[in-house]
Amino acid sequence: MNKLFDTIKAEIEDVQLESESAVEEFRIKYLSKKQGRITELMKAIPTIAPEDRKSYGQGVNALKQLIELRLQSAKSAQTNGSQSASKLDVSLPGRSTPFGSQHPITQTRNEIVGIFQRVGFSVEEGPEIEDEWHNFTSLNFPPDHPARDMQDTLFVQPSDDGNSGVLLRTHTSPVQIRTLVNGQPPVRIVVPGRVYRNESISYKSYCLFHQVEGLYVDKGVTFGDLKYVLHMFAQAIFGADVRMRFRPSFFPFTEPSAELDIWWVDENLPGGGRWMEILGCGMVDPNVLTAVDVDPEEYTGYAFGMGIERIAMLRYGIDDIRLLYENDIRFLNQF
Ligand code: PHE
Repeated sequence: MNKLFDTIKAEIEDVQLESESAVEEFRIKYLSKKQGRITELMKAIPTIAPEDRKSYGQGVNALKQLIELRLQSAKSAQTNGSQSASKLDVSLPGRSTPFGSQHPITQTRNEIVGIFQRVGFSVEEGPEIEDEWHNFTSLNFPPDHPARDMQDTLFVQPSDDGNSGVLLRTHTSPVQIRTLVNGQPPVRIVVPGRVYRNESISYKSYCLFHQVEGLYVDKGVTFGDLKYVLHMFAQAIFGADVRMRFRPSFFPFTEPSAELDIWWVDENLPGGGRWMEILGCGMVDPNVLTAVDVDPEEYTGYAFGMGIERIAMLRYGIDDIRLLYENDIRFLNQF
């Protein structure tokens, strides 16, 4: 008799109750009042010897409990499943894939370069690891110029001769030299690129930043041409009614040299705004042309160089240059 109970018990334990119909079939097979297994076992009680009836009854009850347990857990598994299915709300809007965006420096660089490309400048690039001759000597920096100093320049390999040292370029001007060494004028280029300086890091300066260099060398190029093209540029970036001024300045590689300021309108400032320097420029120094075998009696040229960060910060109202290098997604998402 025990053997019979064991077989039924194993059967109950092994049955798969994964579908609703399997559960119902199971319930009928064991619990149906008319022909269920349990009813059958109960009906058999009169045939059991009286002294065995107690344990027989207990055995049947244990089976019945087991069946009920299995039914209960099968049903609750099914309601959980159907509950999670009913949580699927097909009227919800779909999840959108987040789009990346261009870094504000990239956007500003593309815009600056595009303005000059539209008036006939082509794009050049040069190496970020330069030698002293291209970065300084050929650009008419005297041997004792302070900018060459270890304090300002990040040297990869210093030198004693002032020419053969290897460094991280401190400006994009060496690409002026590389372009003129490779080909005679006319040359009309813009050079976007990254530059490095050994400066203490603050809200306004970082150890690396980006510049766009411009160079136009041809017969009869004048300072008037330079003013014209930079006015066109300032209008394209800051609007047609931009106010600008040239201030005399000094660079070893240009003569005369100037800095270009634009009037930044800000109602909160006394006077309604202030002059902001946006770039350095000038006429290519004859010594530079001679260094690259271009005859300064035949050719003249202008050059300019601007910091991309400074222009990006002005346009977007960013007040700390370090934000541009931290890659904080909450900052970058705004552009
Ligand atoms: N190279 C200069 C700088 O980094 C900028 C400049 C470029 C000035 C070309 C004049 C002409 O400050």
